[in-house]
Amino acid sequence: MDTVKVGLIGAGFMGKAHSLAYAAMPMFFWPAPAMPVRSIIADVNSELAAEAAMRYGFERSADDWRRVVDDPEVDLVDIATPNHLHAEIAVAAAAAGKHILCEKPLARSGEEARGMYEAVRDAGIVHMVAFNYRRTPAVALAKKYIDEGAIGRVLSFRGTYLQDWSADPDSPLSWRFQKAIAGSGALGDIGTHVLDIARYLVGEVSAVNAMLSTFIPDRPIAAGGLDPLGAAQKRTDAPRGRVDVDDEMLTMLQFATGAVGSVEATRNAYGRNNFLTFEVHGSEGSIVFNYERRDELQVCFASDQADRRGFRTVYTGPAHPYGDGLWPIPALGIGYGETKIIEAHDLFRAIVDGTPATPDFGDGYRVELIADAIGASATAGAWVNVVTFDQQPVPSSVS
Ligand SMILES: NC(=O)c1ccc[n+]([C@@H]2O[C@H](COP(=O)([O-])OP(=O)(O)OC[C@H]3O[C@@H](n4cnc5c(N)ncnc54)[C@H](O)[C@@H]3O)[C@@H](O)[C@H]2O)c1
Repeated sequence: MDTVKVGLIGAGFMGKAHSLAYAAMPMFFWPAPAMPVRSIIADVNSELAAEAAMRYGFERSADDWRRVVDDPEVDLVDIATPNHLHAEIAVAAAAAGKHILCEKPLARSGEEARGMYEAVRDAGIVHMVAFNYRRTPAVALAKKYIDEGAIGRVLSFRGTYLQDWSADPDSPLSWRFQKAIAGSGALGDIGTHVLDIARYLVGEVSAVNAMLSTFIPDRPIAAGGLDPLGAAQKRTDAPRGRVDVDDEMLTMLQFATGAVGSVEATRNAYGRNNFLTFEVHGSEGSIVFNYERRDELQVCFASDQADRRGFRTVYTGPAHPYGDGLWPIPALGIGYGETKIIEAHDLFRAIVDGTPATPDFGDGYRVELIADAIGASATAGAWVNVVTFDQQPVPSSVS
């Protein structure tokens, strides 16, 4: 069996999730497309990197990401750093001929994403952006139902991504609140996941009408160490630094198909933890998903007999997407880890077969163009057309 040697950059939250995925992928999907070899991991200093290598099962460690990109052993560069480093690392990895998995958001802007997209396209390598939520089996099942026409023509999409880890004004000034590092706030961090799902299920977004708000203008500056997240890390005594990204994003969507939609994203919604939801209404039925109940898909079909029509729950299992690799009966429960394991499987399949991965940097770039349009719309207070790769408006069936 082939091997794919992985060089992972960034040993934080996503470094943990991706390492778990490489270790577990062949345990779930067998025969695996190729065996992952956790070859080298990099972080900001040699102590952190060496500790991560021991913890996450990598053969070697490095205190400079360039050593990963330049390493002749490495087949796949996995970018799990904060957003401001994605472009520089990806462009260097593409030039070195490595396959690339890059965490979302692909970049801090459409312009930055364009350079990444062009670099991987010209290098001819396999590239994927880590919008892993579309790989939740229930989300893939929603896509299957829609593609089969089970809910007819899609009329509307209503998506949310609500969390509460930054609702406390004394939770720390993570890099996720700094525009120079993150690019944007709730929009890029979590809104992009829902925009990815909207494109996946409904198609291209042609125009947006958005609001962006910042309700907590400053937060305590964290002292050293790994990036602290949430109120558990609360500090009332530290000096405060400015938040220069959005806390809240709310947008209407016009799809190229004529469907309409909305997306709301915030990390300040007390009581909502990972409330990634969507509701899709079609001419023949409806589908509802909530990641907090991720094994379930609610469906209602117009063809159901009138006296028993209503939402029913399908629990995902072996009969559903990815079911052959996961657990043997429905509703045993999948978690965040499984979405990353499936992602690793699909990426390895593409690398071994020499086929394009999805979602790829082109998809990541398109999501950044939507994010740019959301920013422009919020500033202008008006509808803004989303542009395509060649800076033309996305064709719309709506006049
Ligand atoms: N797909 C998802 O569901 C999901 C979830 C969370 C985060 N993310 C994305 O993953 C990326 C990383 O986020 P995270 O939550 O893991 O962040 P994190 O802060 O937990 O970890 C980032 C790691 O990168 C390291 N790092 C920083 N600069 C580096 C450098 N120059 N060289 C090497 N390592 C460096 C940090 O020391 C840290 O260990 C971000 O782009 C984020 O948006 C995706």
